[in-house]
Amino acid sequence: MIHFLKFVFILFFSISSYAHGFKKWATKDNWLEFEVPIAIKKMLKNIGPEDGHPGAVIASPSRENPDYYFHWVRDAALTMDVVIELLKRSHSESEIKDYRKLIQNYIRFSIDNQNASTLTGLGEPKFYVDGKSYDLPWGRPQNDGPALRAIAVLNYIEYLKKLGNQESEIQKLYDNHFPSQSILKKDLEFVANSWQNSSFDLWEEVLGDHFYTRMVQHKALVLGSKFAAERKDYGASDWYLRQAQQIKLALNNHWDEQTLQINTTLNWKAGVDYKHSNLDIATILGILHGQHSESEFTVKSSKTLSTANKLIQTFHQIYPINKHPNASGTAIGRYSEDRYDGHHFQGGNPWVLTTLAMAEFHFKLAAELTQIKSLRKYSKSIFEIGNQMVARVQFHAHPDGSLSEQIDRYSGYMTSADNLTWNYAAILTCFWAKQNAVLEIQNYLSQSISE
Ligand code: NOJ
Ligand code: NOJ
Repeated sequence: MIHFLKFVFILFFSISSYAHGFKKWATKDNWLEFEVPIAIKKMLKNIGPEDGHPGAVIASPSRENPDYYFHWVRDAALTMDVVIELLKRSHSESEIKDYRKLIQNYIRFSIDNQNASTLTGLGEPKFYVDGKSYDLPWGRPQNDGPALRAIAVLNYIEYLKKLGNQESEIQKLYDNHFPSQSILKKDLEFVANSWQNSSFDLWEEVLGDHFYTRMVQHKALVLGSKFAAERKDYGASDWYLRQAQQIKLALNNHWDEQTLQINTTLNWKAGVDYKHSNLDIATILGILHGQHSESEFTVKSSKTLSTANKLIQTFHQIYPINKHPNASGTAIGRYSEDRYDGHHFQGGNPWVLTTLAMAEFHFKLAAELTQIKSLRKYSKSIFEIGNQMVARVQFHAHPDGSLSEQIDRYSGYMTSADNLTWNYAAILTCFWAKQNAVLEIQNYLSQSISE
């Protein structure tokens, strides 16, 4: 607890000290609210491209510099998980019908991906929009993909269970057979059998053991084990759980007591060899995408707070746009030694989805703090830090609300792949986290008035 308190303070004071100029700069308080319908529209536009399968999700319409006109298993799963949330939250019959159709198409396309003959099997990172495997040199395998897909499918199954009478659809998703023919069980078997193998990280650059990958693998197997038990597939349920327990132990090795950070990669084998800090926003993304009720690493654990603080300090230092005298929240990149600018390797930039991830992290932390009596009073300030990071994205966004992958570190202009699908998914998860934080903060404020 003492540790935790210390890190909340550090986060709060270090950030507020250089964010003071923000008020002069912000233009629209509710930009996120303005952006949400745009994000939904633009995200959906990237699903089912005209020249491809209706269930393919392009990472971006950009076909050169960089060419992102592919279905990436990771980006697609994160996007479709957001579509599933939209489905769960929708009250309109026609919307519900459309979302469900999209999800079913995505599942059909993913089954084709699973059955395609590829260079590395289920860890294959990306496919052409017609489902053909991409066989040119690439950082492969990337083993977070099947875990993220399993998490999305499990989320859809939650929806089907609540709806009731959907047994035949659920059974197609998880068939109890071994070897399995169904999307979910195939992915869970893959995760349970391969998590010990090194793979490429979510940035497709380093072969090793990654915190991000393990966080999402852990979540997939814990939830998968519970679901397998519900389906009376007890042997599988035990097996998934035992693997999950081991992943949990392996995750602990990422914490570095000396540097007080979660190291992003252990057992480096190949790939980018200049990431000396081992400090990467991927760890925070791992917590956002992988946290569940049994996680050790959560938004509010002191290890996470210390890592988040180091990341913010680092990015604040290295990007010229963060030095702007009236700048709002810090623009966040992938890791400090990054060189990828979307086209060449002339220096890394801040990214939209990583800045939004840091905002979302603060909204979630703010909501958590309202539950701890002694820390409640900090929740509003932590919430403000989230707002400032959103304002940062707002400042660099195109006026029509469209968002590219990166923000040029000198000029502040949007750069690299345009209309990155993952950005729009990140807008929605960030918005939901904000909405929830607002509710929790209002709740505790009204309680303290009535106390
Ligand atoms: C393209 C990848 O998508 C990007 O993440 C990476 O930095 C470069 N290739 C270099 O491997
Ligand atoms: C490069 C990113 O590093 C990777 O995470 C992503 O999957 C691809 N671009 C496609 O968006």
